[in-house]
Amino acid sequence: MAVLVTGGAGYIGSAFVEQLLAAGEKVAVLDDLSRGHRAAVHPEAVFYEGRTGDRALVARIAREQALDACAHFAAFAYVGESMTEPARYYENNFTQAQVLFESLAAAGVKKVVFSSTCATYGVPKQVPIPEDHPQWPINPYGWSKLFVERLLESFDRAYGLKSVALRYFNAAGATARCGEAHDPETHLIPLVLAVAAGRRPRVSVFGSDYDTPDGSAVRDYIHIEDLGEAHLLSLAHLRRGGVSCFLNLGNGTGYSVLEVIETARRVTGREVPFEKVGRREGDPPRLVGDATKAREVLGWAPRRPSLEAIVRSAWEWMQRHPDGYGTGR
Ligand SMILES: NC(=O)c1ccc[n+]([C@@H]2O[C@H](COP(=O)([O-])OP(=O)(O)OC[C@H]3O[C@@H](n4cnc5c(N)ncnc54)[C@H](O)[C@@H]3O)[C@@H](O)[C@H]2O)c1
Repeated sequence: MAVLVTGGAGYIGSAFVEQLLAAGEKVAVLDDLSRGHRAAVHPEAVFYEGRTGDRALVARIAREQALDACAHFAAFAYVGESMTEPARYYENNFTQAQVLFESLAAAGVKKVVFSSTCATYGVPKQVPIPEDHPQWPINPYGWSKLFVERLLESFDRAYGLKSVALRYFNAAGATARCGEAHDPETHLIPLVLAVAAGRRPRVSVFGSDYDTPDGSAVRDYIHIEDLGEAHLLSLAHLRRGGVSCFLNLGNGTGYSVLEVIETARRVTGREVPFEKVGRREGDPPRLVGDATKAREVLGWAPRRPSLEAIVRSAWEWMQRHPDGYGTGR
């Protein structure tokens, strides 16, 4: 039996495919390459190019690969783009997911691990954020993910589809094979490293007067291999008949933008020029997750929590892949 990884040509999904294969699983990847890279798909995975909402294709994959479970990473994930093109986000992240889960359930595939996000919480009233914190997103990206969480609850009750929705905080770092190559890039660590590599002139620090130790915003960075391990444990949980649940995945430790820049300077031995600019609308001062529940339910704990280790792995990947995945979409 195989595990279907949607979005397996993307940043986090491609790294998870590596981990599944290393764990002895058979893997099928479904990705439309809209945002991913063909070269990121592991050669030992069976690759299907197409959309998650293609019923006939998903039914065919379920038949050909004897699917047992699905890890659903495929989505659009730019907050800013979701504000200007909300229809695309609801269609791709919600409608496509609905058809995917319907098609899977119809084929008898009833175990799903879903990539949710801390963006479903909106502006935190409490930090670290626990799972029972109110969810009121402040952008269509967050809403599209929250709607999928609600859909999964309904599908469990009606169709017996069991799921673990993992609410990631900031995914970061790289494996030897897979790293971050988004275009455009909006994530802080690759942006800072691009400055260290001389590919960007400077990094902008949005807001330097927050109520945080150094005035810059604090975020929770989690290594993609730690995220992947939580997915493996989630699959094991579902396979032993575990109940559906929603779990935060974060380090529980926040790092400020200035700390990231300083760490990048230390790791790379290069200068990282930066400029302090105004706050961005909707950017909370601190976003840190409480991952106690993931520890209790899955026995999961991040094994690469240090910012230094996360930044170093991303830098090493960037050194080996100066052009990312090249033009090979
Ligand atoms: N990167 C983060 O920090 C972060 C944080 C929280 C949640 N997430 C979620 O994790 C998941 C993976 O994020 P990522 O950073 O790897 O994103 P990514 O853009 O690198 O990868 C997403 C992949 O999905 C594919 N895809 C998109 N829509 C598709 C569709 N309808 N059918 C088939 N393929 C499709 C893209 O081509 C791409 O390869 C996303 O669901 C994202 O919302 C990411």
